[in-house]
Amino acid sequence: MTLFKTSVALSSIVLGLSGLAEAEVAAPSQVDQAFEKLTAINTMREGLAATLDGRRDPITEETFKQVCMPAGKALKEWATKAGYEARQVAMKNRNPSNALTVADEPVFAKFAADFRLRRFEQVVASGGRSGVQLYARIPVVAACLHCHGSEVARPEFIKEKYKADKAFGFKVGDLRGLYSVFIPKKQ
Ligand code: HEC
Repeated sequence: MTLFKTSVALSSIVLGLSGLAEAEVAAPSQVDQAFEKLTAINTMREGLAATLDGRRDPITEETFKQVCMPAGKALKEWATKAGYEARQVAMKNRNPSNALTVADEPVFAKFAADFRLRRFEQVVASGGRSGVQLYARIPVVAACLHCHGSEVARPEFIKEKYKADKAFGFKVGDLRGLYSVFIPKKQ
């Protein structure tokens, strides 16, 4: 809890230092609410993954439909409804469309270097877009290793379907990826 509060405070400082008055960007409460939603989606995924613990049947594509697919779906549905743009991004990605963009790269490095960092936001004011880009950490917990553990231990359907898969070899506590949400400035 203390760590959580510290990282929120730190990210607020970063936002403050960016030189734009808070009034010019999305209301802080909107960003806070978005972060809460991301935390809830992440908790949901961890809960779903934990249901696979102790399972004897092999993990199939059907099983996947009960873990990372609902998390991705919940993220997109919430963002569409709110008028935001949301992605999951990772350096070691499984779905090629979840690769880091050039803008994500330094942010990912920041999260990789500081394991207390749960959240980070920055003002976007370029390319005809203005608003806040919010990032939230996706950590690896034990249940993720059913599908993101060692390369050889990956379920068959993953080996077959994701030929360019990089999302394996993780350990508990590793940085798995980031939720990335663009919150446009209110007109
Ligand atoms: C049942 C297998 C399974 C489990 C368990 C699982 N994942 Fe995944 N995960 C997948 C598959 C398959 C994908 C690719 C989804 C797609 O095609 O978009 C994926 C994609 C992801 C992505 C999107 C980024 C990327 O690499 O494409 C993240 C982030 C992620 N998983 C995190 C987690 C976390 C965190 C856990 C544990 C809480 C977890 N996963 C548990 C199968 C799993």
